[in-house]
Amino acid sequence: MIYSRNRRLRVNESMRSLVKECTLTTNDFVMPIFVMEGENKQEPILSMPGIFRRSIDLTVKECKELFALGIKAVNLYMKVSDDLKDNTGKEAWNKDGLMQNTIRAIKDAVPEIIIMSDVALDPYSMYGHDGIIENGKIVNDATNEALARMSVSHAEAGADVVAPSDMMDGRVKIIREALEENGFINVGILSYAAKYASSFYGPFRSALDSAPKDDMEIPKDKKTYQMDFHNSREAMNEVFKDIEEGADIIMIKPGLPYLDIVTKVREAIDLPVAVYNVSGEYAMVKAAAKEGWLDNDKTIIESLTCIKRAGADMIFTYFAKEAAMILNR
Ligand code: PBG
Repeated sequence: MIYSRNRRLRVNESMRSLVKECTLTTNDFVMPIFVMEGENKQEPILSMPGIFRRSIDLTVKECKELFALGIKAVNLYMKVSDDLKDNTGKEAWNKDGLMQNTIRAIKDAVPEIIIMSDVALDPYSMYGHDGIIENGKIVNDATNEALARMSVSHAEAGADVVAPSDMMDGRVKIIREALEENGFINVGILSYAAKYASSFYGPFRSALDSAPKDDMEIPKDKKTYQMDFHNSREAMNEVFKDIEEGADIIMIKPGLPYLDIVTKVREAIDLPVAVYNVSGEYAMVKAAAKEGWLDNDKTIIESLTCIKRAGADMIFTYFAKEAAMILNR
């Protein structure tokens, strides 16, 4: 005789809804957005079907739509033109730069939406690296100074949260100090604490034309600063250091192949945990759905729910808008 029947709690949708352990909502989403120069311009990103680079005016329009759908936050990335790229990143703290103008325009039109700004030099680097290069090596501390200037200029423009995605050591502390010194006591830091050197970033790099350049003199990959995907304990070390230095939110990246790290970090800390469902994860689902091999909508909702179940408080995802439309149906 069987007494314990787990299927009793799965008999129908009402019963299943009572025992559901987590529920995905639009409050969980941060939509990453790609911005470019120009007016009334929109370019598709071929490796990310359904995702576009847009000029500021169309970006503002998009933010209005996102907020109306219930998405409370965007994370901004800039497509910087080649003639503004160098080895110092100085365009990154230009008061009239693309990022600064975008932040002001969004704040003006959609003041309630939380603006997170990407802080990293790669879109501004002639080498496609997240750091300044000297003698063929990425130099940590000089890069931190640049990241601090960049962060302050984003805060001046109106960013709510600065999000350093570079993986230099000690940058959270330098950025926090710079923000405090300049009076931006309420601007938060979302630190990419455990960010792995991952092949899943491929489509993103083509979106911004920010891949490391294939030059003999410089490293061809980001393995001297981003983490090795063989490692898990090392992630804890990264997370605890960033918390000590003043991070407000901790990011784990990528998402789906790294959910063991997400759960481990969630169990170890009490700060909010953000997880990045990255460009390659997006591209995989889109490619398979286009072939008819996966159900687009169901796969999206399952992927994002599983990231939440693993421990994410917020999910950076290119699916945010589409998922919001599915959830709002
Ligand atoms: C670089 C940066 C990357 C992503 C966000 N910021 C790529 C990289 O580290 O080379 C990837 C995001 C994605 O793949 O969706 N600072």
